[in-house]
Amino acid sequence: MNHIVLIGHGKMGSALAKGWVKENSQYKISIIEKEELLLNYKKFTNVKVYKNFNEFFTENKEIDFVVLAIKPQQLNDIKNDILKFENKSTVFISILAGKSVSWFKENISTEIKIVRAMPNLPASISRGVTAIYCSSSILPNEKLIIEELLSSIGTVSFVSNEEQIDLITAISGSGPAYFFYLTEALTEIAIDLGISKDDATNFAKNTFIGSAILLDSDNINNATSLRKNVTSPGGTTEAALKILMNEEEGLKIILKKAVLNAINRAHELKN
Ligand SMILES: NC(=O)c1ccc[n+]([C@@H]2O[C@H](COP(=O)([O-])OP(=O)(O)OC[C@H]3O[C@@H](n4cnc5c(N)ncnc54)[C@H](OP(=O)(O)O)[C@@H]3O)[C@@H](O)[C@H]2O)c1
Repeated sequence: MNHIVLIGHGKMGSALAKGWVKENSQYKISIIEKEELLLNYKKFTNVKVYKNFNEFFTENKEIDFVVLAIKPQQLNDIKNDILKFENKSTVFISILAGKSVSWFKENISTEIKIVRAMPNLPASISRGVTAIYCSSSILPNEKLIIEELLSSIGTVSFVSNEEQIDLITAISGSGPAYFFYLTEALTEIAIDLGISKDDATNFAKNTFIGSAILLDSDNINNATSLRKNVTSPGGTTEAALKILMNEEEGLKIILKKAVLNAINRAHELKN
């Protein structure tokens, strides 16, 4: 039975744990979290919760995977604790934004077996999409378990180089905020046009949600064909899309600028 240690049980950590913790789970799970969590997991015999590393290390030696789910700025506080995982074969999976493989090697240990993963917010409802980058020391059988662990919060995809993690962070990591902003903008436009706040909120939100569910459930059409299907020649949607799809100043130009800005910021934060 693989022993998985989760460090940090916040928004992401709790979503991951929710997927792993079930009756007949094939994992032994340890959770290290400052907040009181014991009651959440009382009925699961394969789960133990620890309030700090000292408590954890007095009881545990053999650890297969450690999932780091704390905030990036909290990592410095636990650098020395990470070094106490003596077994050199332990695999560390970091979901921390902006902390590179080289950061772990330079600041923790050159021998650390490290995997970077970038989930996104819908992970909290098991509909996330996670990019995974494995450094060269990760073995094929370890990759299978990593895939299984991260699939508990949605779909996963391995990328072949670490730079892709920064690019994907700007697409899917920040993507939920782009979607929420579009919803906000459409709501505010509706209000400006004289629709009541309640109606504007309802129509904008449910239009996007309904369209997303349609995109997800339609096995034949992709976003492009669904968009074409809803655009009658000479109609109102076409008139709107002429503005949105303008090649010089349309939405794609603005969205690309936004994505590139996010990528630049990721580089700045790394340095
Ligand atoms: N949220 C997202 O959408 C998202 C998306 C992609 C990646 N990520 C990454 O996921 C990581 C976690 O994000 P999050 O939103 O889940 O953060 P979060 O809700 O703040 O969760 C972090 C948890 O770790 C706990 N913690 C901190 N230091 C600890 C320690 N030494 N020992 C035990 N527990 C400790 C925190 O407790 P306290 O609150 O008491 O400090 C908190 O409960 C971040 O690095 C972030 O970059 C998040």
